Amino acid sequence: MRAVVCTKYGPPDVLQLMEVQKPSPKHDEVCIKIHASAVTASDIYIRASQLPLRFLLPMRLFLGFTKPRKSIIGMVLAGEIESVGKDIKRFKAGDQVYGITGFGLGAYAEYKCMKESDSMYGCLSLKPASISYEEATAAAYGGLLALQRVEEGNISPGQKVLIYGASGTSGTMAIQLAKYYGAEVTGVCSTRNLEFVKSLGADQVIDYTKEDAAPPVGPYDVMLDTAGKAKDSTVKEQCKKALRSQANYRSIDDGKLELSSKRLVKIKELIDAGHLKPVIDRIYPMEQIVEAHEYVEKGRKRGGVAVSIKHPTMPHT
Ligand SMILES: NC(=O)c1ccc[n+]([C@@H]2O[C@H](COP(=O)([O-])OP(=O)(O)OC[C@H]3O[C@@H](n4cnc5c(N)ncnc54)[C@H](OP(=O)(O)O)[C@@H]3O)[C@@H](O)[C@H]2O)c1
Repeated sequence: MRAVVCTKYGPPDVLQLMEVQKPSPKHDEVCIKIHASAVTASDIYIRASQLPLRFLLPMRLFLGFTKPRKSIIGMVLAGEIESVGKDIKRFKAGDQVYGITGFGLGAYAEYKCMKESDSMYGCLSLKPASISYEEATAAAYGGLLALQRVEEGNISPGQKVLIYGASGTSGTMAIQLAKYYGAEVTGVCSTRNLEFVKSLGADQVIDYTKEDAAPPVGPYDVMLDTAGKAKDSTVKEQCKKALRSQANYRSIDDGKLELSSKRLVKIKELIDAGHLKPVIDRIYPMEQIVEAHEYVEKGRKRGGVAVSIKHPTMPHT
């Protein structure tokens, strides 16, 4: 099969498309024929491996010193179950699925084997029927990140909720989820994304690039920072000060992403009922993975960036 291999840590061109052995499922694994993956903030961290020293050493101990031990990277997938091991209960061949491979990586490939139960090596559920495989990748990554924080924030009807970083993969999902839970939502983004964030349902929008504008008027009950702690601005600090209680500031970087198939099922139900729509900025073919990483690394994407994986008509072995 074809897969994208990370030959060493470094810039996007360390990624190389090559022919590798197709995996076969163990008794407790499914084999997924992948139709779409995604380029996420997590993939950039793993490929570039440019972290402060205190994070770099533990991460390289875990993932590999000069290159990832699991050389096929990629954490998000959507595809079809090709075959199942004899102990598999939740899925059957032909099921359309979406999920996250976590530290199992391996989603930049034509096939991936993984367990059906949740662990740090992934979570899987049936894919929303009403969206494409590419859209499903943004639903899995952005949806899981956003739903976890929205649930932790106990967002309830009538609350004033502020989403900082509203235009990214998780921000676009967080806006829609907060509206679904009945909050009055303010989205914070840059000038070019103001109308877009309103179109997702935000009641008000704030431009974080206008530092000389009047400070945000609170008080807000909850602030979800979906941009991540590294992305700062004067307006972000002003937003924190407009919170009713500082304890209600929640960053997407506080604690690890929970790989939960239960949440994937909930996201699927919300999408298929029309309450939630994942946003895709661009779709790149797997052959252009380097260009896809170059684009995502700029940090300006709107929603998710998907990788489309086309299979040859004559299957590889
Ligand atoms: N806790 C965990 O386990 C875990 C796992 C994965 C990811 N994460 C975190 O989640 C973060 C978000 O990931 P994501 O994929 O949703 O983000 P993303 O899509 O990569 O974010 C891109 C968006 O961020 C906006 N942005 C850039 N700088 C900003 C700033 N200073 N203030 C406000 N918005 C800004 C950009 O909009 P403009 O172009 O309009 O500025 C762009 O739309 C990651 O960066 C990472 O920190 C955490």
